[in-house]
Amino acid sequence: MPEPILIASDHAGYALKQRLECWLRERGYTVRDLGTNSDASTDYADYAHPLAQQVSDGMAQRGVLLCGTGLGMSYVANRYPHVRAAVAWTPEIAELARRHNDANVLALPARFLSEEQARQILEKWLDTPFDGGRHERRIEKIEREDANAASAPNDGRAQPTETR
Ligand code: RB5
Repeated sequence: MPEPILIASDHAGYALKQRLECWLRERGYTVRDLGTNSDASTDYADYAHPLAQQVSDGMAQRGVLLCGTGLGMSYVANRYPHVRAAVAWTPEIAELARRHNDANVLALPARFLSEEQARQILEKWLDTPFDGGRHERRIEKIEREDANAASAPNDGRAQPTETR
């Protein structure tokens, strides 16, 4: 049984959220819809905060956010510890967001995607594992504010920051 998926949108993502939710259920996922519940104008942050909080707390492994551009949702979600929200507008970006960045939240730009495109992006994000390896180290540094000052470069020699 696949893991439960959280999903939320503002008004700009509402219609696409409803369709993706049906598609996820057809694929056997348990989906928890955190709103919005209509296309009435609303504020993306009101929906991104609860979803990101649950992912951050480990109450859910994965979440999908939709707004017009995906950007507002990603800004909010990425404020939370352990949340890595990726705006993806192609399946290739979704794949790399998983393989390299272990993205646990997908932010979709609903005003710029057809339903079919969104499904392909979502499917790729769901089905692609994290590569690990060198990307583990890079992900660990995301939440380390001292990473640049405290960590040695990969080969142990100082290198100018502009070449990295
Ligand atoms: C709503 O008009 C729009 O600003 C919102 O959906 C989102 O694109 C913000 O990032």
